[in-house]
Amino acid sequence: MKKFLVIGNPIDHSLSPKLHNYWIKKNNIDAIYEKKLLTQNEIKNLMNEFKKGKIDGINVTVPFKKKVIPFLDNLSIEAKATQSVNTIYKEQNKIIGHNTDIGGFELAIKRINYDLKNKTAFVLGAGGVAPSIIYALKKMGISKIILSNRTKEKALEIKKIFTDINIIDWGEVREFDIIINTTSLGLKKDDEIKLDYSTIGTNKLFYDVIYNPSETKFLAQAKNFGNKTENGYMMFVYQAHQAFAIWHKIMPEINNETINLLNQ
Ligand code: ATR
Repeated sequence: MKKFLVIGNPIDHSLSPKLHNYWIKKNNIDAIYEKKLLTQNEIKNLMNEFKKGKIDGINVTVPFKKKVIPFLDNLSIEAKATQSVNTIYKEQNKIIGHNTDIGGFELAIKRINYDLKNKTAFVLGAGGVAPSIIYALKKMGISKIILSNRTKEKALEIKKIFTDINIIDWGEVREFDIIINTTSLGLKKDDEIKLDYSTIGTNKLFYDVIYNPSETKFLAQAKNFGNKTENGYMMFVYQAHQAFAIWHKIMPEINNETINLLNQ
């Protein structure tokens, strides 16, 4: 039986096992997908086990997406460009790190038919997933990206990779068409992102990478002011889908049953 893992800290909240095991069963694959709570000094051992063939694939989540990189043999173009790995697989006995968050976000935006051409994006947060969002926005032809993070130094680090983005102070707002929350603010019920929603205007797209809760205060307030909203749920489904395709060479159908599965 093949073995797959999602590693992170914390990891309890992860819905990846539910989705992957559902697709594994649907496709009669002899495999199991489990979650594993890890500390940083355990990464090396785990990669050794992977190399020995005891594990067949790994998903990586907060806070290890960058930290796993030194233990891998090669990176895909996307993982290299973002310095972020969420999917690990083996190819000709080499451990490869890849990033399916990019494709996940891209497909989630395409699914709602939102055209990014000639648009300005305002990205909140400079944590683990921010470079993937920026990479995807650029790939889809966005014309301008503004980035703001509470700790400005981290935003400036991202500007070293994507030199044409504009950094503004945390709390400031500029004209935008789409705003994306990549921070962890919203995971807790009372979390709030302080923005002057009344001056932002209507008909913008508010996107939250968070999908649990399904409607953060950020999205609820945006909706009250007449904006479109989208949570990170489909991004999550699509990134899992791409990882599954890499490991099992099968692309399972994404239908209402799949989508509802995770709402239960
Ligand atoms: P990491 O920072 O280890 O990459 P992450 O979960 O990927 O972790 O990112 C957390 C993001 O949420 C960061 O952008 C963080 O801002 P800082 O870089 O200033 O820490 C942001 N964040 C978390 N709590 C926040 C808060 N109370 N106010 C504003 N931003 C917050």
